Amino acid sequence: MKLADRLQEIQPFFVMDLLARARELEAQGSSVIHMEIGEPDFPTPQSVIRAGQQSLSDEKTHYTPALGLPELRQKIAHYYQSEFNLELSPRRIIITPGASGALQLALAVLVNPNSEVLLADPGYPCNRHMVRLFEGKAVSVPVDAESLFQLTPQRLEQYWTEQTVALMIATPSNPTGNCIGKDAMQSLIDDVDKHHAMLIVDEIYQGLVYDAENYTALTLSDEIIVINSFSKYFGMTGWRLGWMVVPEEMVDAIDRVSQNIFLAPSTIAQYAALEAFSTESMSVMQARRDEFKQRRDYLLAELRRLGFKILDVPQGAFYIYADCTALSNDSFELSAQLLEKAGVAVTPGKDFGSYKAAAHLRFAYTQPVSVLEQGVARIEKYIKDYL
Ligand SMILES: Cc1ncc(COP(=O)(O)O)c(C=O)c1O
Repeated sequence: MKLADRLQEIQPFFVMDLLARARELEAQGSSVIHMEIGEPDFPTPQSVIRAGQQSLSDEKTHYTPALGLPELRQKIAHYYQSEFNLELSPRRIIITPGASGALQLALAVLVNPNSEVLLADPGYPCNRHMVRLFEGKAVSVPVDAESLFQLTPQRLEQYWTEQTVALMIATPSNPTGNCIGKDAMQSLIDDVDKHHAMLIVDEIYQGLVYDAENYTALTLSDEIIVINSFSKYFGMTGWRLGWMVVPEEMVDAIDRVSQNIFLAPSTIAQYAALEAFSTESMSVMQARRDEFKQRRDYLLAELRRLGFKILDVPQGAFYIYADCTALSNDSFELSAQLLEKAGVAVTPGKDFGSYKAAAHLRFAYTQPVSVLEQGVARIEKYIKDYL
């Protein structure tokens, strides 16, 4: 079989091998504490599930328009109004199969063969691969804890070329949990504008912000692409539903591409999502956010006590990206050892790029504090027994 050349550059998640091994250990009767999983442990709120069930009973099983159900686009516009006091035309809001679908659409309308897209290393790894799928070139810009994992115009300066078409950022970020403040965002918007490129801001962890201001970059500019999703804050990963807000002039192009590659996002998921903004489900989400904050506070303090270096408090998402050099200079090997010897699964830095990857592990606090406590106790015992 002859596969396309591009496949040579599409890497799997290394953590998947780790997960497979964890499942194997569990099948043999061992217990594993999972701190590698990048999705909320909470199920979708009951009222949202009921809305999805109702749509099935009502036989709402046909395609919707490619850009999404008009009622849902309207609901999201309302959400921006009530949450951020922002007036948005529903026409600019496009419903997609997850943030993943939105990222693909954004890149599909921007990237030519050999176009360059700037992104942070460490960062969400799929972005790099999606750029490659569109025959573009992902240009990694290294960031580290000393600079709060932030891209700034100064840091980006040497990476702009005639071929650069976009800068992709995420706030809060995966894997670091760091947030980009409003002033820093404004300077990135200005910088990208100066270089006649497009800024793509991934706000998928919006709402899961604990110490920073929960704003949207859309309050600063209409000429950027903002990505969001029902996956994380709304606890709907398996429904595969997200959205994007794009500049007015881009809507028709996105419509054409979406019609061709997706036809439409899931109808059932869209009907369920209409309920996601109700008072009932928003109060469930707020309580969950508070719980994530408690988990973050607990795990951050404990990891620091165990010798992991975390310079700045990660302000959002559900991740802590910890420097593990006090324990090992090879985070990949350390993640394997923690699994085999301590029964704790965490994600090695190399899943998120190459810069200082061997010095970092990502911990996800997508488990109750009682489970995190067991994980911490196991790591502590591992350190005592083996280091
Ligand atoms: C930063 C970031 N963007 C996008 C995604 C994809 O999310 P979705 O489930 O909405 O496709 C993820 C998932 O982990 C993510 O961390």
